[in-house]
Amino acid sequence: MAHSLADQISTILHEFDSRIHAATTLEQLETIRIHFIGRSGVVSSVMDALKQASLEEKRLYGPQVNTLKNHINEELERKKLEFITHLQAQQEKSARAFDVTARIWQPLHGTLHPYTQVIQELEDIFISMGFAVVDGPEIETAEYNFDALNIPADHPAREHHDTFWLNVPGLLLRTHTSNVQARTMRQATTFPIAVFAPGRVFRNEALDASHEFMFPQGEIMFIDKNVSLANLMAIAQSFLQKFFNKQDLKIRVRPGYFPFVEPGLEIDGQCPFCTQGCSVCKRTGWIELLGAGLIHPRVLKAGSIDPEVYSGFAMGFGIARIAMIKYGINDIRVFHSNHLPSLQKF
Ligand code: PHE
Repeated sequence: MAHSLADQISTILHEFDSRIHAATTLEQLETIRIHFIGRSGVVSSVMDALKQASLEEKRLYGPQVNTLKNHINEELERKKLEFITHLQAQQEKSARAFDVTARIWQPLHGTLHPYTQVIQELEDIFISMGFAVVDGPEIETAEYNFDALNIPADHPAREHHDTFWLNVPGLLLRTHTSNVQARTMRQATTFPIAVFAPGRVFRNEALDASHEFMFPQGEIMFIDKNVSLANLMAIAQSFLQKFFNKQDLKIRVRPGYFPFVEPGLEIDGQCPFCTQGCSVCKRTGWIELLGAGLIHPRVLKAGSIDPEVYSGFAMGFGIARIAMIKYGINDIRVFHSNHLPSLQKF
């Protein structure tokens, strides 16, 4: 019996030591605790056995069993603390390793439409030269779009304006921004009249890389006493120099025909991109940019201005066209498309 109790105690001790050494989780510690010092664990059965033992044995083994029990308790507590500390350290470490620089989706930023941006750029230029920005209606009467511009109903020039006529007789979508001419003249009370009128125009045309049925134009009109072609050319040149950021840009003038000006001119600008000729200027070094001329006396009269006292010039140009040249766009249709690579050039 004595031998057997001593053996049991040392077997339990060894078994406990090796199991606790191998334990890696809190769950395993709990299993070990129940097995050794649980209510019906192995230590309890040794204590039960001790109750049957002699007084001498009790004296001898009682303290040993107590020591064993204390050892088990202490070891379990120590391991438990060790595991908990380790777990906390791991949690802290993974919290610290959280990557706060992780990528997020960048939202696409909207921008002003290229036409709007270029119109604002043009407005800045003309305002800096003393012009006022004016607006004209897109739905227009035949009177302002044609008659007041010396284009009567039977004039062949009307055929060149592929007009969208409305169902309402006499109304149309303006084919050019020149409709602001007589309107502005009739409203003016002081001289000089100096206006820049950007806006949409409409033409019933076959669509291709350089033709749209709706596109923006800009109109410049200047009226005062003794206005000459020299004034017209100075304004045209300095406008183009500013727009293309080329201080020495030269212009070239050719005769052109528009019923509302006399003489009428086509104005070419020197290619802003080359000196020898490139694909933009089709190897000529020049690009056709403006229609212009001195305002026809009949147009001044239609605007209630006396052509014996006043004279003026007018210029018109395609805003899409000059934007395409400046920003390297080769198809006008991208402006009304979702083609972001082209639109983001602006
Ligand atoms: N309105 C003309 C066009 O659309 C351009 C122009 C304007 C020409 C002013 C001369 C003077 O083609």
